Formats: sequence, structure tokens, C-alpha cells
Amino acid sequence: MAEYLREAFGDAEYVTRDLSEADIPLIIGYWAGASDSWLEGLNVSRQRLGSEADMRARFSNMIRGVGDADRVAFVTECNGDVMSYSNIHIVDNGAAAYLHGHVIRKDMRGKGVGSVRFSSMLRMIIDEFGVKTVIAEPLASNVAVNRLHQSYGLTPDRKWLDTPDGLAEPGWYNLYYFTRDVLDSADVRATRARGLQKIEAGSA
Ligand SMILES: CC(C)(COP(=O)(O)OP(=O)(O)OC[C@H]1O[C@@H](n2cnc3c(N)ncnc32)[C@H](O)[C@@H]1OP(=O)(O)O)[C@@H](O)C(=O)NCCC(=O)NCCS
Repeated sequence: MAEYLREAFGDAEYVTRDLSEADIPLIIGYWAGASDSWLEGLNVSRQRLGSEADMRARFSNMIRGVGDADRVAFVTECNGDVMSYSNIHIVDNGAAAYLHGHVIRKDMRGKGVGSVRFSSMLRMIIDEFGVKTVIAEPLASNVAVNRLHQSYGLTPDRKWLDTPDGLAEPGWYNLYYFTRDVLDSADVRATRARGLQKIEAGSA
């Protein structure tokens, strides 16, 4: 099981590594235990999520080296406990990858961690999988994730999608395209710095 990123900030250490079978029950719990309003906010239906067995099969297929090479999932641990997961879907003959991510631990959302780590994740995906572009396709109404992406100075391509990547239902989505150039921008550094400040203030 490969480890990709190890960063320490605030009073915690964050490690991003491959998904393993042992992580899957936690991810199933995140989806199976989600309220109707949470699922609505993500435009995901229980029908598309399927049964727990369907979810297990879907995530098992994203374990690197086990399932399809173009669908890979990672988890991030905070001080040894899984706090979030992400998955990529490589498309366009390896030139691009869709990225999906969820902070599973409610108590860790909105504290600045995404602002610090999202750019590290993007860089890791570009370096590790050789893609030129990482595409994020959040629902246009998802405030937190759109704020994070727009903090990079990007203007989203707002589109109605009948078949968004992943499991979501048709709807209005904001498409963002992250390249090395975007990651090297002053806006990305500023977002990271703002996230670090938020974390330091929270752990002080
Ligand atoms: C979206 C997500 C990855 C962001 O990570 P995070 O660690 O919570 O992000 P941060 O704390 O760094 O906040 C990023 C921005 O979102 C804003 N934000 C965070 N939570 C928010 C909330 N509940 N409502 C409104 N804005 C919010 C922050 O204020 C910040 O914007 P700012 O710098 O302009 O103030 C995380 O909240 C999450 O997993 N949410 C649930 C699942 C989800 O929506 N995934 C995306 C699916 S495409």
C-alpha cells in the first residue's frame, strides 16, 4: 500500500495513502448513514449508491493495483485516523482525471484543512498519474467546495450535465480544470496560507 503525502501542520500529521479493504466500512458508513438533506446537497440518490454490497464492490474496485487502473481511491489519515477519502477517474487516454473528495469526519470540515491540502492532492495526482489536468465537477450549489476552487482564481464552466462523472444525478455543475500552471499560482499559495492560519487559530 503506497503512501503519497505526509504533511504536518497545526498539531496534527496528515498522511495520504492508497485505500485498503479495511477502510471501506468507514466509507460505506459515511454514505449509508447520510441524511436525505446531505445526499440532496450532493445530488446523490440512495438508488444510485446502491446496497452496502454494491458500495463495497465499487470501492474495492478502486484499490490501486487491484481493480480498474483508471479508478483509484485514496484516504487521508489525521494522526492515524482516516478523516477523508478521494477518488479519481482517469479519462481522455490518461490526459485528465476527475477528482471527487469527501471529508468523512464532520468535526474536521470548515477548519482550513481542505484549503491547505487540496493543492497538495492535486499536485500528487498530476505527478503520480501523469495527467495534465485534474477536473473537479462539484454541484454548482455546493458552497464550500466552490469557494475553495474559486479561491484559486478560476472561473467555473457552469454546465447542465445529464451524466456527471461518478454517482451524482443530472444537474447544474461547475467544472474546474487544475493544471500545473494553476497550482504554481500566487492564489493557490494564498489559499494554503489562509488555511494554515485558520488551523493555527483553531488549535491555539
Ligand atoms: C468541500 C470540502 C472538501 C472542503 O474541505 P474543508 O476542509 O471543509 O475546507 P476549508 O475549511 O479549507 O474551507 C474551504 C472554503 O469553504 C468554506 N466553507 C467550509 N465549510 C463551509 C460551509 N459549511 N458553508 C460555507 N462555506 C464553507 C470556507 O469558509 C473556505 O472558504 P473561504 O476561505 O473563502 O472562507 C469539505 O468541506 C467536504 O468534504 N465537504 C463535504 C463533501 C463535499 O462537499 N465534497 C465535495 C464534493 S464535489
